Amino acid sequence: MPCAIGLSEFAMISTTPEGLEIHPRHLEAALPDPMPRHWHGGDPFKSHFFNAMSVLFPEGERFFIHSVRLFREQIKDPLLLEQIRGFIGQEGHHSREHENYNQRLRELGYDIDYLERGVKRRIAFVKKRFPPEGMLAGTCAVEHFTAILGDVLLTNPLMLAGADPQMARLWRWHALEETEHKSVAFDVYMRVCGDRKLLRKAMRRSTFFFTLDTARGLIHMLKRDGLLWNWRIWRDGISWLWGKQGVFRSLIGVYKDFYRDGFHPWQQDNMYLVEQYRSEFDAPAAPAG
Ligand SMILES: [Fe+2]
Ligand SMILES: [Fe+2]
Repeated sequence: MPCAIGLSEFAMISTTPEGLEIHPRHLEAALPDPMPRHWHGGDPFKSHFFNAMSVLFPEGERFFIHSVRLFREQIKDPLLLEQIRGFIGQEGHHSREHENYNQRLRELGYDIDYLERGVKRRIAFVKKRFPPEGMLAGTCAVEHFTAILGDVLLTNPLMLAGADPQMARLWRWHALEETEHKSVAFDVYMRVCGDRKLLRKAMRRSTFFFTLDTARGLIHMLKRDGLLWNWRIWRDGISWLWGKQGVFRSLIGVYKDFYRDGFHPWQQDNMYLVEQYRSEFDAPAAPAG
């Protein structure tokens, strides 16, 4: 089924900043040693909310790379090919860094293998049953999630207020790179397929599983801490996410944008964040002594 949109149509919707360069960065000494159990200001809900997302990343990001690689041969635009290289490099680093992170969680006594098993099984099913376009549409959907989460993480101080500085730095680094490469999978998809209906379907499915998996991880870790039935933790945690000042409140509109015809990730233009945070992570090391 040929579903590629024309080049001129692609040029009309694409708002990727001109000449956007994407380079992976190493993050030295990424994790605190030992990692505090409740590294987010002593708050179990906030710590485990982030931890639950971390559990999803290694498998998830390897899948994103796989789904983009399936179409690399069809891309002729040298800039997009360069961006694909950057995207693969960045997601590869994230995957490895989150593997270390998840290993620390194992050492703290959480059953990460149990949590990962479900994700691995689902990804194996998708790889077996879904057409390549469907896999790439799924990647576009989850990349929109990581992009809007990255934006709120870099703009709303409540996201990481009180967190261990090294942990906060790791999440800022990930958020910066998610912002930089947020349109790569999407631009590839629009060049090789462009079917909006498939994108919307993928987003509905991804929303369901992302929410389910994050909740599963959060519940497991709170249970291991003996805090699952502590209603104050849930009340404060849910209010942090969805209350009047809730960090997720601002995401509803940008999340919905994905369902619009003519949507492109860079219509939410947050290039200023990329510039701002590049100076944190790309600054040359201070001279010794
Ligand atoms: Fe990532
Ligand atoms: Fe990503």
